[in-house]
Amino acid sequence: MSFIRKAIKSMDGYTPGEQPGQGKFIKLNTNENPYPPSPAVKAAVIEAIERLPRYPDSLATSFRLAAASVLNVDPEQILCGNGSDDLLTILTRAFVEPGAKLRLPYPSYVLYKTLALLQGAEPDEQPLTADWLPSAAFAASQDGVQLAFLPNPNSPTGTRAPREVVEATAKSIGCPLIVDEAYVDFAEEHCLPLVDSCSNVIVTRTLSKSYALAGLRFGYLVAPTELVVELRKVKDSYNCDTLSIAAATAAIMDQSWFEENRRRIVATRQRLTVALRELGFSVIDSEANFVWCEHSSAGAQPLFQQLKDRGVLVRYMKYSRWREGLRISIGTDEQIDALLSLLPQLV
Ligand SMILES: Cc1ncc(COP(=O)(O)O)c(C=O)c1O
Repeated sequence: MSFIRKAIKSMDGYTPGEQPGQGKFIKLNTNENPYPPSPAVKAAVIEAIERLPRYPDSLATSFRLAAASVLNVDPEQILCGNGSDDLLTILTRAFVEPGAKLRLPYPSYVLYKTLALLQGAEPDEQPLTADWLPSAAFAASQDGVQLAFLPNPNSPTGTRAPREVVEATAKSIGCPLIVDEAYVDFAEEHCLPLVDSCSNVIVTRTLSKSYALAGLRFGYLVAPTELVVELRKVKDSYNCDTLSIAAATAAIMDQSWFEENRRRIVATRQRLTVALRELGFSVIDSEANFVWCEHSSAGAQPLFQQLKDRGVLVRYMKYSRWREGLRISIGTDEQIDALLSLLPQLV
């Protein structure tokens, strides 16, 4: 098709993790939550069906009110999206002109680079330091850099930059800094206070991980009110549907379900980290719902395949300028036990 823009023809699209048919594998490859969402979600979706003949509330007001009281922010500071990927797209479209640069750490979430290329912009990848922090080059102000993404905790490492480091980065970088907190509910600290203290910080969150709603597609961002007004112009009018707004609102209101779920995942992550190290893996300390590991002798690709052949799906990742390894999502205790029972024969 010769009418396609050059920028699109010359790029690879983003490839999401494998989604095999239900029940085929113990699925530890795409950082989903292994537990079901709050029972309140089901009731809310059923109740919302009656409202389907009408268009949804384009600003997802019920969710913003509920989230604002949980997060202690103003509802006017919140913008909702069809998953946080939708918000990352909206932010790229709003801030980045074709030909400009979009800064990201390396290694990090591969979608950022795709979004830059889609926009006709140049990805400006800056390697993380040996301590997994944004480097001085990442934090440096530079002409032409119009947006920076900082996943915190990061994927695929699971590491987190302390709030003071993110704050110092925001103060020096000279462009909007998007702190992508997709995994922050599994971490020890978050950066929401920076939205008030640094005028260029925007925090994005998702209900896909800690609220067990990856299939629903719902995320939100917290930004200065005057910026949210501008971002509303960029989003699709109805980027969240009636069912997803009802479900997300019910989920965020059930904080006790959420807390219990999060506690279990963090405990299982600790157990998995210790067990993998005993088996000769080097494991990066993670604050997310996954761990990155490499074995001292067994290759990551053969290990991935052998586990898959035995019904356990993890993520094999190879970063050409960094490393290859396995990213293992935290499953239920039973799922992690099944993985751990296979590994001694394979390494
Ligand atoms: C760092 C990071 N940000 C954002 C997302 C997207 O999440 P969502 O399901 O809300 O689109 C992911 C998904 O894996 C992620 O790893």
